[in-house]
Amino acid sequence: MTTEEPRQQDQQSRAWVYSRRGPPGAVLALETTRAAPTLPPPNAGAEEWILVRVAFAGLNVGAVWQMLLLPAWLRAPTPGEAGPGSATGGGGHGNATTTTAAAAAAAAAAASVPSRFRKGDKILAMVPASLALSTGTGALATTVALPARCAVAKPAATSLADGAACLLAGMTARLLVAAAGLPLDQHGGRDGGRGQDPPRRVLVNGASGGVGCLVVQMVRRAVGDAGRVVAVCSGRNAELVRSLGADEVIDYTLYKDAPGLAAHLATRFPSSSSSSSSSSSSSSSSSSGPPLSAVIDTLGFQPLYLASASFLAPSGVYASVGIKPPRFALPDFLVAVARMKLNEWWPTARWLGGVGRPWRAVAMLSPSLQDRRDVVDLLAAAADDDDSRPRLRIVRDSVWPFEEAVAAYEKLARGHARGKILVKVDPLVGDDEC
Ligand SMILES: NC(=O)c1ccc[n+]([C@@H]2O[C@H](COP(=O)([O-])OP(=O)(O)OC[C@H]3O[C@@H](n4cnc5c(N)ncnc54)[C@H](OP(=O)(O)O)[C@@H]3O)[C@@H](O)[C@H]2O)c1
Repeated sequence: MTTEEPRQQDQQSRAWVYSRRGPPGAVLALETTRAAPTLPPPNAGAEEWILVRVAFAGLNVGAVWQMLLLPAWLRAPTPGEAGPGSATGGGGHGNATTTTAAAAAAAAAAASVPSRFRKGDKILAMVPASLALSTGTGALATTVALPARCAVAKPAATSLADGAACLLAGMTARLLVAAAGLPLDQHGGRDGGRGQDPPRRVLVNGASGGVGCLVVQMVRRAVGDAGRVVAVCSGRNAELVRSLGADEVIDYTLYKDAPGLAAHLATRFPSSSSSSSSSSSSSSSSSSGPPLSAVIDTLGFQPLYLASASFLAPSGVYASVGIKPPRFALPDFLVAVARMKLNEWWPTARWLGGVGRPWRAVAMLSPSLQDRRDVVDLLAAAADDDDSRPRLRIVRDSVWPFEEAVAAYEKLARGHARGKILVKVDPLVGDDEC
């Protein structure tokens, strides 16, 4: 969808906005006659800005939390609005589209910085929470003005939809893999686990979600053929997760709750430093094996962490996206934040009342340009010399029309997306168009 001239309708923008706190279905409104954003005036800042026509937006759970929790006074009003409001997208949606370059070049010249983009370039961008909250910018709008540091060039062979799906989830996945102490094998081939002795055994919880699908693939490469990737997901997603690189799938629906799953893990991967019951209970079972080297929890199940000494090796790390509150509600969120701080600050030593294993949480408030490039490089790079497929496969749960963004958010909030949920902002763009 490269065009050299802005379309007539680019003078106006359509955007999903909200101005009060609440669930997406209650607070989101579609504005159809909004003036399209313009670039900041000269001297507005010493950096390049771009005007972006959005093709797709990828939805993220963090934006649901922003809509539910953040009072209006904590967010900047969207420019041009009478009252406080913010285009949704808050915590970051990947966008893919073309820049209107005349404007981009003008902004760069005014700021005396080199221009990275020209009119018609196709880009992938992620609006970080720091920008969304301070400026009211979000991705669910037909036209968006952004600092160029939020964007990277789209690889030629990557579809606009896959590009929109990859950035926030991919950056989170990379952080998790690094936090778990695994090598980020960006350029290696099938020998990702070379030199690891003994081979690593890594558990990925929530393996079929937007973040989980990417973590499984990154861990597969990090541990190599000798290592073992154990995925926790429901039976309906077992085949998908195996196709992404999991050696073993544990169906969480077979267990009553997270403590039930933890009890199974203690039997399957007994850790010698935990209670004797866990190792003895499976002594005759061919299904028990050495403890896990690391856990990557893409959902943040606190009971799983609290029991981790029973299935995670003493040297192992529990890497997590945070702690999942039981409901989308402010009190539950505050309790989860307090528990996260305790996980971080309380000593891990058992004799001091600790869990016995370190907890490492990741945060994605304001990722760098390099963070974005690292993910996009994985999309662009061939898996191996004899294989032209990208190293990262994007799993799409569904693609929703722009007008149905609320229904898309409601599906996301139910917690059972299989890969990424996308909104097609520009109806003229094909689902697989590059
Ligand atoms: N810290 C950060 O900076 C950061 C950044 C990005 C995301 N996050 C957080 O990371 C979390 C995951 O994000 P996401 O986009 O991957 O979420 P998501 O796509 O909504 O995850 C949904 C997946 O979780 C699976 N699932 C549901 N219950 C499960 C259970 N009990 N055990 C195992 N799997 C289960 C679902 O499978 P079934 O349908 O089979 O149940 C579904 O495939 C969110 O809480 C998000 O807020 C944090």
